Amino acid sequence: MTMESFDVVVRRRESQSYRVTIAETLDHGWARGVPALLASTGNVLLCLDAELPLALKQDIISEIADACPGTLSSMELSAGEQLKGMGGLKPVLRKMADVRLRRDGLVVAAGGGSLGDLAGFAAAIWHRGTPWVVLPTTLLAQVDSAIGGKVGVNMGGLKNMVGAFHQPVGVFCAIPWLSSLTSTHFQSGLGELVKYGLGMDEYTWDLLWNSSKLIRARDSAVLKRLVRRAISLKAEYVAFDERDKGRRRHLNLGHTFAHALEGAGYQLEHGQAVALGLVAATRLSVALGMADQSLEHQLLDLLSRLGLPRSIAAAPMDKAFAAMEADKKHQEEHKVVILPVRIGQSIVYEDPPLPDLEQALESLFLH
Ligand SMILES: NC(=O)c1ccc[n+]([C@@H]2O[C@H](COP(=O)([O-])OP(=O)(O)OC[C@H]3O[C@@H](n4cnc5c(N)ncnc54)[C@H](O)[C@@H]3O)[C@@H](O)[C@H]2O)c1
Repeated sequence: MTMESFDVVVRRRESQSYRVTIAETLDHGWARGVPALLASTGNVLLCLDAELPLALKQDIISEIADACPGTLSSMELSAGEQLKGMGGLKPVLRKMADVRLRRDGLVVAAGGGSLGDLAGFAAAIWHRGTPWVVLPTTLLAQVDSAIGGKVGVNMGGLKNMVGAFHQPVGVFCAIPWLSSLTSTHFQSGLGELVKYGLGMDEYTWDLLWNSSKLIRARDSAVLKRLVRRAISLKAEYVAFDERDKGRRRHLNLGHTFAHALEGAGYQLEHGQAVALGLVAATRLSVALGMADQSLEHQLLDLLSRLGLPRSIAAAPMDKAFAAMEADKKHQEEHKVVILPVRIGQSIVYEDPPLPDLEQALESLFLH
């Protein structure tokens, strides 16, 4: 088993640092390599993505049962954006009550970002905070959502409106788990990786650009490098700004537009919406004189290489504009958007003119 571990340190609260392990291959007994599982003292509730392949579900259940000293209860949840609401949350809280999950108990979330956001939020409010461990099984969850402690559910068409910051006590990413993802769900994770490359990290950009064929073939060595790099980047941003007030906001590159598309109900996975959001953010940056036109061409080329969407079929745009307005209105007084300025670098831009924002969004629709 090739495993690599490092710690995510949430600054000012060093005691809350947690171990992230990445495994390129998996052997029997892998869960014993996750200190937080071995250290659990109470009972354990495993929340499992119902759509995982049967053999994977069985392996996760037996490994957790073997590694955790306490009694194990488990429940399956049907993942996806529809899970992230009060309707998805209630059965988890009900189960926690039924099994009398203790304050020193442990929630284990095994699945993609939607399950992780939901189970992490349930853990955040149960006993006003119960420890949780994440076993991210999608590329998107491994490179992004499993790290950083943002948990929550959607409300009234607004993404992640009800939530908390609740850092996990451990994260375990296994690259072999990614082999059963559909191509759409795999692409979704690539969308978030392009975000890191475009807005924060030239190394990630170059790796995506130079290894696109291997990536699309899901080569485990390249995927491990990408996951490793993304997790360290996210960990670094979270360490400086756990509460999303400063530097961490760069991680929202493309998300103003992505949330508009998602809020308007287009059939897109989150990372696909992010990829489109990056195109819109780059065009806005060019329009505002912050980036050169060539940046847009480079981005469109990379998205093609990785098989990611660059535009969306014509559809009623009013809903997307309304969703963008609603998303912006509930934010802080100054509306900010993250703009890429060159590969690997982005800026926080305050109060962009609404017509420019709308034009950037509209540019995504094929007429
Ligand atoms: N908390 C954060 O910081 C953060 C960051 C980015 C995204 N997110 C959230 O993450 C969510 C998206 O996460 P996602 O892309 O993982 O989607 P998802 O959780 O909906 O999973 C996508 C699909 O893949 C299936 N799946 C999961 N693992 C699988 C596997 N190994 N093999 C086969 N199928 C598998 C799931 O059942 C689901 O159908 C969004 O709600 C987004 O808002 C949160």
